[in-house]
Amino acid sequence: MKDIKSYISDNKDRFLSELFDLLKIPSVSADPAFSKDVIKAAQKIKESLLHAGCNLVEICETKGFPIVYGEKIIDKNLPTVLVYGHYDVQPADPIELWDSPPYEPIIKKTDKHPDGAIFARGACDDKGQMYMHVKALEFMVKTNQLPCNVKFMIEGEEEVGSNNLGIFVAENKEKLKNDIILISDTGMIANDIPSITTGLRGLSYLEVEVTGPNRDLHSGLYGGAVANPINILTKMIASLHDENNHVTIAGFYDKVEELSREERAQMAKAPFSLENYKKTLNINAIYGEEGYTTNERNSIRPTLDVNGIWGGYIGEGAKTVIASKAYAKISMRLVPNQDWEEITQLFKTHFEKIAPKAVNVKVTPHHGGQGYVTPINTIGYSAASKAYEATFGKKPIPQRSGGSIPIVALFEKELNSKTILMGFGLNSDAIHSPNEHFGVWNYLKGIETIPYFYKYFTELSK
Ligand code: BES
Ligand code: MN
Ligand code: MN
Repeated sequence: MKDIKSYISDNKDRFLSELFDLLKIPSVSADPAFSKDVIKAAQKIKESLLHAGCNLVEICETKGFPIVYGEKIIDKNLPTVLVYGHYDVQPADPIELWDSPPYEPIIKKTDKHPDGAIFARGACDDKGQMYMHVKALEFMVKTNQLPCNVKFMIEGEEEVGSNNLGIFVAENKEKLKNDIILISDTGMIANDIPSITTGLRGLSYLEVEVTGPNRDLHSGLYGGAVANPINILTKMIASLHDENNHVTIAGFYDKVEELSREERAQMAKAPFSLENYKKTLNINAIYGEEGYTTNERNSIRPTLDVNGIWGGYIGEGAKTVIASKAYAKISMRLVPNQDWEEITQLFKTHFEKIAPKAVNVKVTPHHGGQGYVTPINTIGYSAASKAYEATFGKKPIPQRSGGSIPIVALFEKELNSKTILMGFGLNSDAIHSPNEHFGVWNYLKGIETIPYFYKYFTELSK
């Protein structure tokens, strides 16, 4: 790519300040208090796509937050890359745990990012990573090196399940027609160990409510004689794993694809230090499903985790009470072939079955999606691999991730195209957590690498 390095060094400050402007908008999709800001972020994306050289940009309204669609079609006979990303972010809470305010981006050095990292909610997930594509397009257009057509689809509801995007995709198949989908919304192993994400887990997210007596009771007058919903709920939750940390829900593993010994051996080649892993998390020991390594547990195996639990008195001091209700939010990470709606149903049946007669339980599904595995014997993967080789000087390692982007499986179903996941974040970048950040080096490396993907993909498509 002619001049990419000089273009980046000449424009580095502007690339950062434009991203900062986007990060200053608190576009939290989960909280209605931020609705105006979410819409403001969509408008900002529209402006930046126009500025980068798209010849058509639309804000497409949905029942929820809008989808920003942009395109630059240079020749109908050339391949088309569809870029997907999201401009919404997770809530910043607990805000008191941030060392600097979440919507006032600031660059600070870290161990992993000696050149500095941008600290702000959304810096890595996904504003920073999405914006790399906008700047890569700007470079290709400005220097006359865009080799194919490009479409952008940037949504504002990824962090709340992408329900309206699913409808939009199904209704706009012709408009979204493409040869490959390109996403930067995942991570890589380390700055000197580039990797391409070849799998995402599916997800079933639900909420449970356990009701005992019809009102809160004096724990002395009634304690011991009626079911305490918190006692019962915690007991029920504890029974969802056996002594080997297998999930006990009947049928849960029925469709799980077991990897061959060769595939597992291949996976085990990825560099990983258990000592560092424990050290960075400040844990004495790892914990998880018997028979699998840490990297297997967090990528190719399904899981069940409580994400939140509440009920009873949690204020100052003591209050002797048996609460009428107890609640929990539970997520199950799924692997390819497990159907999220089927698993949701299995959970519901199981949970209702194990509830003692003394309580009533209600299971409310939230959202979910299917897992995804992308093959590596495709021109899309080869193009991405060559792109990393060009800018990192080494071949990237294919690696399945434990996170979920439910819309990816839907893209394949509705648009019949494969997705390439070129993520530039690190696991230590604290996405969804306080002090989320994204390396300045990673941001610029992404901008540098993306144009090569377009080049090689177009060449290999011939
Ligand atoms: N970008 C993440 C997913 C991700 C991160 C995948 C890192 C792989 C590596 C995405 O924004 C996300 O947070 N997804 C949610 C699911 C969604 C339905 C709320 C998740 O994985 O919890
Ligand atoms: Mn994301
Ligand atoms: Mn996220």
